[in-house]
Amino acid sequence: MKKIPVGHLTVGMFIQEICGSWMDHPFWKTSFLLTSDQDYQTLVQSGVHEVWIDPDKGLDVSQDTPSLDAEQVRQQAESLLTATQQLAPPDLRVPFREEIERARFIHARAKTAVTSMFQEVRMGQALTADAAYPLVAEIHQSVARNSDALLNLARLKNKNDYTYLHSVAVCALMLALGKQLGISGDELMHAGAAGLLHDVGKMMIPDEVLNKPGRLTDAEFNTIKSHPSLGHEILLKSGGLHPIVLDVCLHHHEKIDGSGYPEGLSGQDVSLYARMGTVCDVYDAITSERCYKTGWEPTMAIRKMAEWQSSHFDLRIFHAFVRTVGIYPTGALVKLKSERLGLVVEQHPASLLTPYVRVFFSLRKNCHLEPKILDLSTGEDTVIAAETPERWNFPASVLAL
Ligand SMILES: [Fe+2]
Ligand SMILES: [Fe+2]
Repeated sequence: MKKIPVGHLTVGMFIQEICGSWMDHPFWKTSFLLTSDQDYQTLVQSGVHEVWIDPDKGLDVSQDTPSLDAEQVRQQAESLLTATQQLAPPDLRVPFREEIERARFIHARAKTAVTSMFQEVRMGQALTADAAYPLVAEIHQSVARNSDALLNLARLKNKNDYTYLHSVAVCALMLALGKQLGISGDELMHAGAAGLLHDVGKMMIPDEVLNKPGRLTDAEFNTIKSHPSLGHEILLKSGGLHPIVLDVCLHHHEKIDGSGYPEGLSGQDVSLYARMGTVCDVYDAITSERCYKTGWEPTMAIRKMAEWQSSHFDLRIFHAFVRTVGIYPTGALVKLKSERLGLVVEQHPASLLTPYVRVFFSLRKNCHLEPKILDLSTGEDTVIAAETPERWNFPASVLAL
């Protein structure tokens, strides 16, 4: 497989994967033979910059085309991620196990509240800041104690309540990322509210378009792309919402290279909060299961985002985001140098590369081990790779935090 710039694609090449969030292009299946010029134009117009092609299934590129193989791309992404290691991981004030029960309660309540708030919007009622901010404050308290607890719960969604739970997740991510960037006080609350309300415009998009399992027509894709402006209108009409909330709602699909929507803003014209919104939004979207796509594991998602970073995200914000969720996020399955598999159960205050890991499986003996928690900062063992749980079929109890 080769990663090539979109400009070098020709009809007859087999596209294995499009580099970018699947919210940003209308091709629901990411692997297909490029058969028409029109599809090529759609790809370019969607702001896709790079794609993976499989030369065994279609035409190859000429020798002078700039291309990268999987190992080169992997190394680039890893070095971008490990560049964050000198910076402090999130400040986890209480252990994960202690926070998770409270977080479960807050998450359930937030889901109910967001669902009714959004359904009222769908029926034409105005949104009020009073409805959103107490919720943001509660989510913030949990995130401030231990952001991993709520962030882990926020990943679990089912297809029907995606938009509501995505809103809660992006709220929690904005609060955790904002804190990592040194934002505090009222501004942090506005960033959280912005996360909670960024997709409110989706309430105006018909379900059959929003959840369509097949490829979107140009008209349907344009309908989806209207959600930031529709949301912005709803928030404006509601009145009393802070400019940060309005800005993130309208601009969370803008990209710093100018290829986003609705306004195609670029560089400094995309505000700090909108840039934060983009990173949090993409991460939650690609780690969630949708009607047309299974979600990626956090370790995989963060590596994919590192691959897309230069055209999609602000580097400083991306680095802060990696520090927020981890290089090996809590809940990730990892392979250790000692040929054991383990689950990351907590980040370590010293470094993102040395989390606490519960080892439970020996690859050498191919059998389960008595679970034991290792502190990798002691040097006793090292993570050598992120593992995908699908390969292993371990019972859920083994992977539970
Ligand atoms: Fe959106
Ligand atoms: Fe979103």
